[in-house]
Amino acid sequence: MIGIISAMHDELAELLLVLKNKKTTILGNREYFTGTIHQQSVVIVFSKWGKVAAAITTTELIRSFNPTEIIFTGVAGAIHHQLAIGDIVYGTSLVQHDVDASPLFPKYEIPLLGVSYLKTNENNKLYQAVARFTNHYFDFIAKEEANEFNIKTLKLIKGTIASGDEFISEQRSFDKIKHELDNVQCVEMEGAAVAQVCYEYNIPFNIIRIISDKADDSAPIDFPVFTKKIASKYAKGILENYCS
Ligand code: ADE
Repeated sequence: MIGIISAMHDELAELLLVLKNKKTTILGNREYFTGTIHQQSVVIVFSKWGKVAAAITTTELIRSFNPTEIIFTGVAGAIHHQLAIGDIVYGTSLVQHDVDASPLFPKYEIPLLGVSYLKTNENNKLYQAVARFTNHYFDFIAKEEANEFNIKTLKLIKGTIASGDEFISEQRSFDKIKHELDNVQCVEMEGAAVAQVCYEYNIPFNIIRIISDKADDSAPIDFPVFTKKIASKYAKGILENYCS
């Protein structure tokens, strides 16, 4: 069984429409939807926002549903200048930009785990599903919708994702992540927490993030509109293909 997590309903709404034999289980104030997509059994859940919410949800998902792998999908703010709204980041490692137990431990290192960057379990089948979506983008997203966000061509980038309990929209926070951490592509609020739980429970983990904003002062405007109108079409396009 594949576990699929997003922080918000809007990010997975379209994928839920193709879930067959849907059953809902409520645990710890979260709805876990089980069923099949093209014969593949899956469990889908919205974690809600932030690292604590994501860690609770992932732990419950592992303990109650025993998934063979977990995939997180959702939106993120761009940190690297090469990224534009609509582009996709396939995560290769995750770091918590708000962890700092210095001087007892090096800044950004997870205390007593001894690591700062947690690697994902890169999976060629999943990467190919993302690449296929990228190459056939306009089969999934209407041109008028793409135009609204000025999406003309789409980039798919592999790289590091930073997570923390902060919606990044101010220059000072943006600069700190960009300059203090190595080669961060984008920022969000859950991925590194899910990666840590998966690491501790030894469950393969991957993450796909779609750029909804540029983590700047227009982020609070771009983010909700993009998430509602477009993000869930990415999750459906990519994950339905992955499950087939
Ligand atoms: N998710 C999407 N955009 C974000 C931002 N700017 N900061 C944190 N999380 C995000």
